[in-house]
Amino acid sequence: MIQLERVKKVFPNTAVPAVDELSFTVEQGNVCVFVGPSGCGKTTIIRMINRLVEPTSGSIFIDGENILQVDSDRLRRRIGYVIQQVGLLPHRTIEQNVGLVPRLLNWPEDRIARRVAELLEMVGLDPAEAAQKYPYQLSGGQMQRAGVARALAADPPIMLMDEPFGAVDPILRGRLQDEFLRLQREVQKTICFVTHDINEALKMGDYIVVLNAGKLVQKGTPMELLSSPANDFVKALIGDDRGVKLLDLTRAESLVADGSIKSPAVKDCSCFIDALQPVKMALEQMMKHDTDSVGIRRGDEVIGALTWAEIKKHIHRISGDEG
Ligand SMILES: Nc1ncnc2c1ncn2[C@@H]1O[C@H](COP(=O)(O)OP(=O)(O)OP(=O)(O)O)[C@@H](O)[C@H]1O
Ligand SMILES: [Mg+2]
Repeated sequence: MIQLERVKKVFPNTAVPAVDELSFTVEQGNVCVFVGPSGCGKTTIIRMINRLVEPTSGSIFIDGENILQVDSDRLRRRIGYVIQQVGLLPHRTIEQNVGLVPRLLNWPEDRIARRVAELLEMVGLDPAEAAQKYPYQLSGGQMQRAGVARALAADPPIMLMDEPFGAVDPILRGRLQDEFLRLQREVQKTICFVTHDINEALKMGDYIVVLNAGKLVQKGTPMELLSSPANDFVKALIGDDRGVKLLDLTRAESLVADGSIKSPAVKDCSCFIDALQPVKMALEQMMKHDTDSVGIRRGDEVIGALTWAEIKKHIHRISGDEG
C-alpha cells in the first residue's frame, strides 16, 4: 500500500509548487493511474515515491513505513521503475539490461539467465532473438517491453510506470495495454501508472487520479469519473464522447439485470452479444446488422434484449447532459 499525505514539492527557484498538498492511497494489488496535462506533476510524484526527489513537505508511506526512514537501496528493491524515456543502457545487451537488478542483488548467473528468459517471454519478446541484441536494434515498442521486463526483474511488489507505452503507435499501444492487463491479473502488483492519455487511464486504472497544476482534481474509478466528473476540467479531459465511453465500461448484463431497460420481444432480434460484453458492442452489432435491437446471451440462454432507443435513454440517465 502506498500513502501520500499532504505531499508538496517546490523546486528551487520556482514560484508555483510542482506538486501541491497531494493526499491519496493506492491499495495493495491496485493500479492507480495518474493523468493530467504536461507539467502537472506526474513524474515528480513517481520520483518522490522512489526517493529520487525529496518532498518539500508532507509524508509518503509504503506498507505503513515512512519512506524517508527506510534505507533508499532497500526501498528501491521493493519498487520496479519504468522511466518515461525507457532508459535502457545503450551499451548493454537486452539480457544485461533486464538482469541489471538481479545482478546487483548478487543472484547466481544461472538464476539470472532463467529469470531474464522468463521475463522476456512474459512481455512478449522472444528470448532467443532479443536477449543478445542492443537497445538500438529493437523497435520503440520492443524497447518499451524490455523496459517493463527490467522493472519486473527482481519481482518487486510495487511498480512505478511513467508513460510506459508513450513511444508507440496506437495499435501496438493497444496490444501492450492488453498484455499489461493480462500480466497484472497474474502478478497483482501495486502499480502507479502515469499517462496523459485519458483513454489509457480509463482502460488501465482501478482508480484514476486526475491532476492539474500539481493539484488533485478528482480521484475515482473510471466509472465514477465518467458518470460524475467533478468539474469542467475533468469533463474536458474526458472529451465530448463521455456517453460512448460509459457504454464501453457498462456490461450488457447490468442493463438487462437491473430492470432499468424493459426488454423488447427477444424473438425480433437478428443478432446477439454475450452478457459480459460492453453495451457499446450492442450498438456496434446494431449498426453492423442494420437493426435496432440486440439479444443478450449468457452461455446458451437468452436473458433479454437491448434496443437503440433504450440505450440512448440510459446514457441520458447516467450522464445527465448527454445527447
Ligand atoms: N528538477 C526540476 N527542477 C525544476 N523544476 C522542475 C524539475 N523537475 C520538474 N520540474 C517542474 O515541475 C513541474 C512538473 O514536472 P513533471 O515532470 O512532474 O510533469 P509531468 O506531469 O510528468 O509532465 P509530462 O507529461 O510532460 O511528462 C513542471 O513545471 C516542471 O517544469
Ligand atoms: Mg512526466
